[in-house]
Amino acid sequence: MSQAANSSPSNPARRVAFLGLGVMGYPMAGHLAKAGLDVTVYNRTAAKAAQWTAEYGGRAAPTPREAAKDAELVLACVGNDDDLRGVTLGPDGAFAGMARGAVFVDHTTASAGVARELAQAATGLGLHFVDAPVSGGQSGAQNGKLTIMCGGEYASFERAAPTLAHYAAAVTLIGPAGAGQLAKMVNQICIAGLVQGLSEAINFGERSGLDMALVLDVIGKGAAASWQMDNRGKTMIAGEFDFGFAVDWMRKDLGFCLDEAKRNGASLPVTALVDQFYGDVQRLGGSRLDTSSLIWRLRQLDGGGA
Ligand SMILES: NC(=O)c1ccc[n+]([C@@H]2O[C@H](COP(=O)([O-])OP(=O)(O)OC[C@H]3O[C@@H](n4cnc5c(N)ncnc54)[C@H](OP(=O)(O)O)[C@@H]3O)[C@@H](O)[C@H]2O)c1
Repeated sequence: MSQAANSSPSNPARRVAFLGLGVMGYPMAGHLAKAGLDVTVYNRTAAKAAQWTAEYGGRAAPTPREAAKDAELVLACVGNDDDLRGVTLGPDGAFAGMARGAVFVDHTTASAGVARELAQAATGLGLHFVDAPVSGGQSGAQNGKLTIMCGGEYASFERAAPTLAHYAAAVTLIGPAGAGQLAKMVNQICIAGLVQGLSEAINFGERSGLDMALVLDVIGKGAAASWQMDNRGKTMIAGEFDFGFAVDWMRKDLGFCLDEAKRNGASLPVTALVDQFYGDVQRLGGSRLDTSSLIWRLRQLDGGGA
C-alpha cells in the first residue's frame, strides 16, 4: 500500500481507475475522461481497453491491481458477484493495489451480501467501499443521466459523489453497505410486474384490433402512464427488443430479489412469476433480448408471431 489518497467533497478525485468497459462501463468511464480526469482503465478483454484509450486517451492497465495503483477512486461495473470478487480480491485484484484511504465504488448490480463482504474486506485494509448500482440503462450511461443508489459510510459517499455526478442525474446515499443494492432490488421488483402488465395490455389491445400506438398515446397521458410505456411501448408494438438490458441480466437481478426475500420474509408472488416468464423467454432463444420482450413471449404463446 502506498500513500493515503486525499480526495474530499471540496477536492474531488483527479486520478481515477475504471474496471469493466461493457455496455455500461465504457461510456461511464468516457464521461470521466471528457470531464478532464486522469483515467486508467482495465478490461478483462484487453482489446476493449485499447479501443477505449484510442477514443478517450488515458491509460490501460493489464490487471485491476495495476489500474488501481495511485487512484484516489476506483470504480467498477462488471457482471455479477463472482466477477466483482475477481476484480477486487486476490493478488491481482484492485484492493491489493489501492492506496490506504482510497475509495472503491461498485456499479455492478450484485447481491447485498457481496457488498457487505467487500465493505468489510476493504475496511480491514484501510480502504473504503461504496455499493452504487445504477438505473437508466445503456442510454442513461451514454447520456450521463444515470440514477445511482449508494450504500456505505457517509464520508466515503461524499468523496465519491462529485465524480459519479459526471454520469448521473441523481446520486443518493440510501444507507449502510448493501443498501444501494437493496434499493436496486426494489427498482427491479417495480419494473418486473410493470413490464408484464404493459405486455398483457398491448397484447390484449392488439388482439382486439385496436390501434395500440394511438391507445398508448391517449392512456400515456393518464393514470396508466409509466417510463416503460413512454420509452418502450411503441418499440414493443413494433417487436423491437434491442435496448441494452438483457433478459439474462434481469434474471440475475430477480434472483437477488428472490434470495433476499427469503431472508427478509417479504412475499414476492408477482416477481417470482415474472422471473419464470423471463425463463420462458430464455428457453425461446431470447436471452439477449431486452426486458420488454415479455410481450414477445405472450405473442408466441397466443400464436401471434413476433
Ligand atoms: N446494460 C444495462 O442496461 C444495465 C443497466 C443497469 C445495470 N446494469 C448492470 O451493470 C453491470 C454491467 O452491465 P453491462 O450491460 O455493462 O454488461 P456487459 O456489457 O456484459 O459488460 C460486463 C463487463 O464486465 C466485465 N467482466 C465480466 N466478468 C468479468 C470477470 N470475471 N473479470 C473481469 N471482468 C469481467 C466484462 O469484460 P469483457 O469485456 O472481457 O467481457 C465487461 O467489461 C451488470 O451488473 C448489469 O446488471 C446494466
